[in-house]
Amino acid sequence: MVEQRCRLPGWQDLVMSAEQAAELIQDGMIVGMSGFTRAGEAKAVPTALAQRAHEKPFSITLMTGASLGNDLDAKLTEAKVLARRMPFQVDNTLRKAINAGEVMFIDQHLSETVELLRNKQLGKMDVAVIEACAITEEGGIVPTTSVGNSASYAILADKVIIELNLASPAGLEGLHDIYIPQMRPNRQPIPVVAPDSRIGTPYIPIDANKIAAIVITEGKDSPSNVLPADAETQAIADHLIQFFKEEIAAGRLTESLLPLQAGIGTMANAVMEGLIEGPFDRLTMYSEVLQDSTFDLLDSGKLTFASGSSITLSPKRNEQVMRELDKYRNRLILRPQELSNHPGIVRRLGIIAINTALEADIYGNVNSTHVCGTRMMNGIGGSGDFARNSQLSIFVTKSIAKGGDISSFVPFVSHVDHTEHDVDILVSEQGLADLRGLAPRERARVIIDNCVAPLYRPALNRYFAEACARGGHTPHCLEKALSWHQALNTEGSMRSLLAE
Ligand code: COA
Repeated sequence: MVEQRCRLPGWQDLVMSAEQAAELIQDGMIVGMSGFTRAGEAKAVPTALAQRAHEKPFSITLMTGASLGNDLDAKLTEAKVLARRMPFQVDNTLRKAINAGEVMFIDQHLSETVELLRNKQLGKMDVAVIEACAITEEGGIVPTTSVGNSASYAILADKVIIELNLASPAGLEGLHDIYIPQMRPNRQPIPVVAPDSRIGTPYIPIDANKIAAIVITEGKDSPSNVLPADAETQAIADHLIQFFKEEIAAGRLTESLLPLQAGIGTMANAVMEGLIEGPFDRLTMYSEVLQDSTFDLLDSGKLTFASGSSITLSPKRNEQVMRELDKYRNRLILRPQELSNHPGIVRRLGIIAINTALEADIYGNVNSTHVCGTRMMNGIGGSGDFARNSQLSIFVTKSIAKGGDISSFVPFVSHVDHTEHDVDILVSEQGLADLRGLAPRERARVIIDNCVAPLYRPALNRYFAEACARGGHTPHCLEKALSWHQALNTEGSMRSLLAE
C-alpha cells in the first residue's frame, strides 16, 4: 500500500513518527500547513505539536489555507501553540483567544496570503506540513481533498513534512491542477479562460531534497456542518432563484448563468440546491469550497463543471463521492486558492458571487466579520476576492438574528468588509434589493423596503428621514449611526430603538 502511494526512491529513510517530525518545528518558527474549510489538513503533526507544548511550552506563527477540521485549531489554542494565526478560522476556542487578544489573528483575503509570502512581506517560512495522497517519483506532492495554500507553502518553506494519508482515496490523484504565478514584475497572464481550464501539473512540484519527513497517517477529514435549510433560508434561496429567472427573461443572463461562486454554509448551499429546479442548464462553478449541493447539481445534470480549492461534504455524501470519484473525474478541478479566488480570473470569467453578510447598512456596506465592530467571528475568507471583482456581487443574510434582538440591517455597519461599491444585490427572507445603478439615497429606499424585517422597518425609516433632512450624498446622523450597536452592547438587544 505505502509503496503504491510513495513512489519517491529512498522514501523509507524519511519515514518517522508524528512526534519525531514535530521536533523539526521549534519555538518562534513560521509554519505553513495544508487545510482548507475542514478538508485536507495535516492531522498528526499538529496534534503532536499540541501534545508537546502542554509539556514544554513554545509558540509559532501558523498559516493555513483556511479553516482546519478535527478540532485542530482548538487543540493548538488550548496548548498555547499559536502566537500568530492567518488567514482564516472558524473555531470557537480560537475565536475566544483572538478576541481576548491572546492570539494575533491576521484576517486576510484568501487569494493574498501566498502572494505576500512570496514577496517576502510575511517573513520566511521555516516548515510546511502538507497532507498528501501520494508522492511522485520526483518528490511531487499529490494533495488530498484540498489544495488551499499547500503548493506555495511547500515550494517556499525550507523544509517539508509530508503526512501521507493512506485513508484518502488514491483516485484523488489527477483532480488537482497546480499552477504558480511567476514572480513580478515579469508575470505572464494566468491562462484560465474557463472553469475547466487545466493549466498546471496534477502534483505540487518541489525539490525532493527539502522533504525532511514522511509521516504515515490514516485520519479522516471532519464532515461539513451544513444544516438543512429552514424557512428563512429557503425564502432567501427562492428570492434569488426568481431573480436569476428574471435576469434570463431580461436577456442579461442565459440559462447557463455565469460561473457561480457560493460561500460556505447553509444559505449558499440552499441557493445552489434551488438551481436544480428551474430553467437552468449547463451551469458551471468557479468557487472555493465544493459542498454537497455541487455534487447534487452534478448528479442532476444541470452542472457541467466545478472548479474549487476543496471538497467538504456531509458524511454520507463524502462516502459516496470518494467511492465514486471516477464518475466526477472529468467534471472537477481542485486549484490553489490563489487561483480559485484570483481577482483577475474572477473578473475575466464574470462570476456570480453569493456570500453571507453578518450585517448590512441602509446604503449597502457589508460587515461579514465583526460582531458589534469588535469581536471577530470567522474572517473575511474569500468573500472580498469575489465580491469586488464579480459580475454580480450578491450578499444574503436573515433580516434578524437572536430571535429578533438584532436587526441585520442597521443605519451604519460597525465594521466594513465590503463597501457599498462592491455590493450589487442584497437578499433577506423578506425580499431582494437590486442596487445596481442606484445612488445612496435610492439604495437606502430599496434596501429598507425589500430586505428589512417589518419589526425594524419603521425605526430605520425614521433614521433615514432624519438623515435626509440633514442632507449629504450619503445622509447620516453621525451621533446615532452606531446607536443600534450601542444598544445591543449595553442592553443585549436593539429593541429599544423601536420606540418612537
Ligand atoms: N450581529 C451579531 N450576531 C449575528 C448577526 C449580527 N448582525 N447576524 C447573525 N449573527 C449571529 C447568529 O445569531 C449566529 O450566532 P450563533 O452561532 O450563536 O447561532 C451567527 O452569527 C452565525 O449566523 P448565521 O445566520 O447562522 O450565518 P452563517 O453561519 O452562515 O455565518 C457569517 C454567517 C457571515 C459569519 C459567515 O458566512 C462568514 O464567516 N462569512 C465570512 C467568510 C465568507 O464569506 N466566506 C465566503 C467565501 S468562503
